[in-house]
Amino acid sequence: MSIRKLYIETYGCQMNVVDSEVVAAILQQQHYQLTEEMDEADLILINTCSIRDHAEQRIRSRLKELKRVKQKNAGTAVGVIGCMAERLKENLLEEEPLVDLVVGPDAYRELPALLEQVENGQKGIDTLLSTKETYGDINPVRMDKNHVTSFVSIMRGCNNFCSYCVVPGTRGRERSRDPESIMKEAGSLFENGYRELTLLGQNVNSYRWEQGASPVRFEQLLAMVAGIDPMLRVRFATSHPKDMSDDLLQVMARHQNLCRSIHLPVQSGSTKVLDRMKRKYTAEHYMDRIEAIRKHLPGASISTDIIAGFCGETEDDHLQTLSLMEWVGYDFSFMFKYSERPGTFAARSYKDDVPAEVKTRRLNEIIDLQTKLSLHSKEKDVGQVFEVLVEGTSKKSDEKLYGRSSQNKVVVFPRGNLKPGDYTHVKISGCTSATLIGES
Ligand code: 5AD
Ligand code: SF4
Repeated sequence: MSIRKLYIETYGCQMNVVDSEVVAAILQQQHYQLTEEMDEADLILINTCSIRDHAEQRIRSRLKELKRVKQKNAGTAVGVIGCMAERLKENLLEEEPLVDLVVGPDAYRELPALLEQVENGQKGIDTLLSTKETYGDINPVRMDKNHVTSFVSIMRGCNNFCSYCVVPGTRGRERSRDPESIMKEAGSLFENGYRELTLLGQNVNSYRWEQGASPVRFEQLLAMVAGIDPMLRVRFATSHPKDMSDDLLQVMARHQNLCRSIHLPVQSGSTKVLDRMKRKYTAEHYMDRIEAIRKHLPGASISTDIIAGFCGETEDDHLQTLSLMEWVGYDFSFMFKYSERPGTFAARSYKDDVPAEVKTRRLNEIIDLQTKLSLHSKEKDVGQVFEVLVEGTSKKSDEKLYGRSSQNKVVVFPRGNLKPGDYTHVKISGCTSATLIGES
């Protein structure tokens, strides 16, 4: 079989990054080799995200641009994979005539058979979701640039059904991956020089493997991965505030290589809004979990996700979000305007009633506050020394390297004799709201 060229473009979350690596591995078996040049590809795959309307619109315009490639080389096949494929199914084939292939997140093993159909002039589609698929046996083809940090998927799907969220519909029910295959993958990444792994799942706290002699919960899995080597840093995402347990924080406290950084999406500071979002916790419970983090992991950084302008959000609800942000003093946040997603509970049950200009204004207030908090978070570090894992050369200067502290803050510092994958201690001499600046 002759070698064919595969170009993959990935949108959305870290989960999609790993999925693209799994897809590359499945297609490698079919003699597809990755290329970074779209124009020389025999197969172009767009791994898509449906989380907000804006994400889908960006992908739609990208698909329009692909017309140019198809005009030049009529033999190039175009596939849409991932969440948007799952959400839109055959409609995507009707709406976007240049698309040959539509494959959902649980159907990637069918890609070779579907590609055969495409070669025979048909369209290929498979959007079946599975309750078991974890791709646990597939060794992803790594596409990261630094060969120091990588993602490892530990579970798929989501059972939370937050009322605004499309993910349970696009990624199906929650299922955990066999710990043995996780350990094998993590161990081999370490042997190949990787020094930081991020364990991924939509809600990692509910990881549970029941098929062995005794069940493995997330805390145990985390301790197992941390035990591979003290030189291997381990992070994880994403946690759900309702399941963030003291047990987990205690395990983290016991292992220095479990990074001092927790991403705990709050979404809103108003219990009333959280209730409508079906988040299953109150603002008080969330604050209790923040206090637990501060107690068990002093100095840990805390980041979050926030949605501005959810259905029924009043000015008072919004002020509660701002005051919670200030109380926590987030080190970093991802901040979004609410975007109604078809098929979700919120779309069916509530009116998207916060006017666009109010959403924009509230989001801007949230962003402005976070910029202030981020700067404060960095200023606190000036004068201190942090252990930094070197990731690569700074974008702004060849003389400088960049890496991260355990708290997940980016540090830029003089190159010296260091190389990616090394650990070094850096004294922080200055900062911006995004970066710490260090001496050696
Ligand atoms: N509108 C806006 N933001 C959303 N998120 C999820 N669904 C929506 C939506 N419909 C945000 C949440 C989530 C992050 C991944 O995306 O904050 O934590
Ligand atoms: Fe990831 Fe959610 Fe986007 Fe799917 S919809 S790619 S799960 S962020």
